[in-house]
Amino acid sequence: MDSSPHPVTVRRRGRVCLIVIDSPPVNAASHAVRSGVQRALKAAEADADVTAIIILCEGRTFVAGADIREFGQPPGEPSLPALCQEIEACTKPVIAAIHGTALGGGCEIALACHGRIADAGAKLGLPEVKLGLIPGAGGTQRLPRLIGMAAAIEMVATGRMMGAAEALERGLIDVITEGDLASDATAFAERLVSGKAGAQGDAAQPLSLPLRRTGALPVPAYDEPAMAAQIEQIERKARGQLSPGVGARAVLAAATLDLPAGLAHERAAFAGLLASEQSAALRHVFFAERAAARVPALEGATPRPVAIVGVAGAGTMGAGIAVVLAEAGYRVIVAERTEKAAEAGRSRIAALHQRGVETGRITREVAAARMAATAVGHDITAFAPCDLVIEAVFDDLAVKQELFAALSGIVRPDAVLATNTSYLDPNLIGAAASHPERVVGLHFFSPANVMRLVEIVATGRTAPDVLATAFAVSKRLGKLAVLAGSCDGFIGNRIFSSYRKQCEYMLEDGALPHEIDAAMEAFGLPMGPFAVFDLAGLDIAWARRKRLAATRDPAERYVRIADQLCELGRFGQKSGAGWYVYENGKRRPDAGVTSIIEAEARRSGVQRRSIGAEEIRTRIIAAMVNEGARILGEGMAQRASDIDLVFINGYGWPAWRGGPMFQADRMGLGTILAEVERMQARDGAGWEPAPLLVEMERSKQLFGG
Ligand code: 3HC
Repeated sequence: MDSSPHPVTVRRRGRVCLIVIDSPPVNAASHAVRSGVQRALKAAEADADVTAIIILCEGRTFVAGADIREFGQPPGEPSLPALCQEIEACTKPVIAAIHGTALGGGCEIALACHGRIADAGAKLGLPEVKLGLIPGAGGTQRLPRLIGMAAAIEMVATGRMMGAAEALERGLIDVITEGDLASDATAFAERLVSGKAGAQGDAAQPLSLPLRRTGALPVPAYDEPAMAAQIEQIERKARGQLSPGVGARAVLAAATLDLPAGLAHERAAFAGLLASEQSAALRHVFFAERAAARVPALEGATPRPVAIVGVAGAGTMGAGIAVVLAEAGYRVIVAERTEKAAEAGRSRIAALHQRGVETGRITREVAAARMAATAVGHDITAFAPCDLVIEAVFDDLAVKQELFAALSGIVRPDAVLATNTSYLDPNLIGAAASHPERVVGLHFFSPANVMRLVEIVATGRTAPDVLATAFAVSKRLGKLAVLAGSCDGFIGNRIFSSYRKQCEYMLEDGALPHEIDAAMEAFGLPMGPFAVFDLAGLDIAWARRKRLAATRDPAERYVRIADQLCELGRFGQKSGAGWYVYENGKRRPDAGVTSIIEAEARRSGVQRRSIGAEEIRTRIIAAMVNEGARILGEGMAQRASDIDLVFINGYGWPAWRGGPMFQADRMGLGTILAEVERMQARDGAGWEPAPLLVEMERSKQLFGG
């Protein structure tokens, strides 16, 4: 982390001492940074010529947190909490001069200072919760003293960043500057020393000597029942994740404990979470997200410029894509096949923007501007000026090939053509286009304006700059992009298919849909698989099974229960019945489904037995990991952690479980392999252990979770 040999240096401006941290990329509070700041602080305090001290950073940001890479290592002195105490106790004013993002430990350093000045674009936050942690260097104790209990609980429990304007309004910072940060911070410090500095625009609250020590401030009065209700809601929403509730309660402790006791309480809770499986999983996810962007094939490739994007098809998927494109500031051209379909598409897109207005996310004007940037019609020649066209039409090879052939005669030869297919081979779709090297898969997940995942699928011919374009556009859309190879279902749906099959086998073997759902919901999924199947509709998977029936290996175990439900017109929630029945929007298990399951088991000669939640989870995870290992072995995913990201961001897998491959490492690959061998013995063809899994278990390796 500390690429610079001297991450902390000292400068003087008159009688003000500037302690400057320069530790790329994000000035994390590593041991070298902490000890450097401590040394400089002590020297400045002892120097009779220094009247005030400023802590500021070089590079792109103020301190963005403790150094996550040091977690788990023996702590080097001073610890971050100790350093914050020293800053607060300093007898000379210490000012934090903030730019970029003051996050976690960085925000805590700022809180311990006696004043805070930030540039207008700065953001402050305590995102430890996202790493399964709580602030561990005084954040939970100092923040409520500045901004009040309710706002502090919200910030700690959600990890939300606060912009400079809001931070000023709430009292988290004292001054915003549009000018040079170091100069304005110096002027602020000088005013403080002379006793003339007041919080911006608030002469009634002078921020002058004697020093205003955050930890010495009283906690503002708060409404106890309202706080209890807020915390209860936070814990309910966290669905098994511990850190939001623990963080909220640590903030609440600031009201009942004095500062030393409050800090001790916070530190103990922080240490407990740091050692937890949940935090290990969430830190894995943090680094996995950064790793996903590292694609060797992109080295040296420059993305093609993209300003105008076409979307072919304005159904649920196309409309969602059009919305997210407009949100990101692209000009969007949408084309449907007929005038009627275009009209329906326009309404769908408008409704999605309108929802943003209703939920308070955007103003009416912003929604109107986004609609104005989106042209919806039924003439595909309108795509002529597009730099990129994303097709989101019916998932049928002939339909997509016909479209790509037509597009080839409309758009420039260097315009990128992306297919949103979820199962078809992008190579075959791309073959229909002129310049097939400009074809790439951009697989969004539904609803595309909500789900964060995009699988980027390289065909055998995709040019590196086209792939780079797909990554650049996804990034601008705020999506998490994962590279996938071209195989049936890519990463997500291919693994999901094994998951689904194993769930259906378990029905014949003895479990009921609601039991499997309950086991997975207790694991942390927001909805069990059968409830999800019902929500998505059973007919699409049915159509696919019928399509693939001719090529299915006859030796593969095939469970007909889902087909029978469809034959009865039970297509899921939309038809009022599927794996469950639905009355007044409420879901309940159905004895009719149990009878079908039991009859099928008898027909297949399976002796049903009760299957416990633990076995349900192990079977599901083993099935997923075995397919994941196949995908890795075939080079269809770059790394195991990419698979974890796909399930967390595309399928609602709880991030605090770290993803299936992470789980496999934790459970032990021996356990997974043994389960897969049982599957092979019981379920036959298709359930052979993946060679990579066997090899890794033999050589005692881990996937790297
Ligand atoms: N420690 C160590 N490395 C960090 C880091 C941290 N706190 N924050 C970021 N990095 C690394 C990343 O791993 C990445 O490394 P790489 O280039 O080798 O992949 C590099 O810095 C750049 O990060 P991003 O790619 O994420 O850059 P962005 O510009 O997109 O985002 C950021 C910058 C907003 C600062 C983002 O990195 C971020 O959110 N970081 C985490 C902040 C955080 O969680 N802080 C709390 C830490 S826990 C803590 O402080 C405990 C305390 O209370 C005691």
